[in-house]
Amino acid sequence: MKNTPVNYQVVREIIDSYGLPDFGKATIREVVAISSELEQRTNVEFIHMEMGVPGLKPAKVGVDAEIEALRNGIASVYPNINGAPELKKEASRFIKAFMNIDIAPEGCVPVTGSMQGTYATFMVCGQCFPERKTLLFIDPGFPVQKQQITVMGYEYESFDVYEHRGEKLRAVLEKYLSKGDIAAMIYSNPNNPAWFCLTEEELKMIGEMANTYDVIVIEDLAYFAMDFRKDLGKPFHPPYQSSVAHYTDKYIVQISGSKAFSYAGQRIGITAISNTLYHRTYPGLTQKYGKGTFGTVYIHRVLYALSSGTSHSAQYALAAMFKAASDGTFDFVSEVKEYGRRARKLKKIFTRYGFQMVYDQDLHEPIADGFYFTIAYPGITGNRLMEELIYYGISAISLSTTGSNQEGLRACTSFIKEHQYALLEERLKVFCENHPL
Ligand SMILES: Cc1ncc(COP(=O)(O)O)c(C=O)c1O
Repeated sequence: MKNTPVNYQVVREIIDSYGLPDFGKATIREVVAISSELEQRTNVEFIHMEMGVPGLKPAKVGVDAEIEALRNGIASVYPNINGAPELKKEASRFIKAFMNIDIAPEGCVPVTGSMQGTYATFMVCGQCFPERKTLLFIDPGFPVQKQQITVMGYEYESFDVYEHRGEKLRAVLEKYLSKGDIAAMIYSNPNNPAWFCLTEEELKMIGEMANTYDVIVIEDLAYFAMDFRKDLGKPFHPPYQSSVAHYTDKYIVQISGSKAFSYAGQRIGITAISNTLYHRTYPGLTQKYGKGTFGTVYIHRVLYALSSGTSHSAQYALAAMFKAASDGTFDFVSEVKEYGRRARKLKKIFTRYGFQMVYDQDLHEPIADGFYFTIAYPGITGNRLMEELIYYGISAISLSTTGSNQEGLRACTSFIKEHQYALLEERLKVFCENHPL
């Protein structure tokens, strides 16, 4: 067998022990388990690029506020199901400061991470009209969200936007929405896994289609303000985080504390429901709950049933981070720019050894450097590449698990350590020798 940095036999043995029919379809958690086990067995360090976990310290302003809230006895009290008033007020202000959008504090609802935010949102969207139980994913996307749809017994459809950028997006949206069974559509911006950003024109098309077909848009801003090509970190000053909210009033924005504030462990985020949608009644909701608007059903029925609100102290942390960011005393964007620096270096190394970027353009502009990037190696499918790189101590996930039709991998920059650039270079050199182009 070829001379690979990680022993071939051991890799085979461990992968086989997981009994996966196709390693390329392994979930992120399975890849983590396999690569960690290999690291232990072989003592060869892995370059972990599979998990999208923040690799930075949590924002101090948040930690301090949370500790203080705990010291003040907040832990014994059930949080208000609507959310702590302080957080609702600061979330609304933060959205104005960094998106230039007006959403009343009432519609800014704390959730236990965007994971819960999307779960509850899918749930309510799928109940608005009895005949609409299908969610449309503008893919590639975050695989767990499809898992959420499956768990709740809804249906989903999806398309890979790679082939439908620019004006082509309108036609494909029309094709899906005109069938009349789509409850809502969702995308992330910047995109997980591909890190492209939909352009203002594309967001406008999505908004117009939402208006035409009365479909709700779920805008997942898990990577808020992380399009580092623009300076999005100045409160109340353009440029702002792009949003579909400028083109439709049927929108819900998910803002996560996990990546922008490195606060993933506390499971905190905001679902921000547009003022119009918050107050709108739907036949399906009236039939099911007797009364209530989209916003009140979301909070008082669904969130109440799921978790009875969101961890109290984490709400104080997020309120303090939002406040400091809007006051201009906490430059959260500068802190996370580290991911962009890492991506730039990593992309250079991969391309030096024959790899190509898969999603590389936002129409005519190169995509930003950020939390993720996508790579392919000529002549090797994504699933095989994912397995092949394991022999070189490099772990990433195949794009095939994300709804992408492209062959390649998603690589995450968050776990990369300073000494690993040289290590990556060394490993890819051997990979390249073993896979001559
Ligand atoms: C696109 C996207 N949405 C949502 C989430 C989940 O965010 P949270 O940690 O707030 O639940 C992630 C996390 O990786 C993500 O990438």
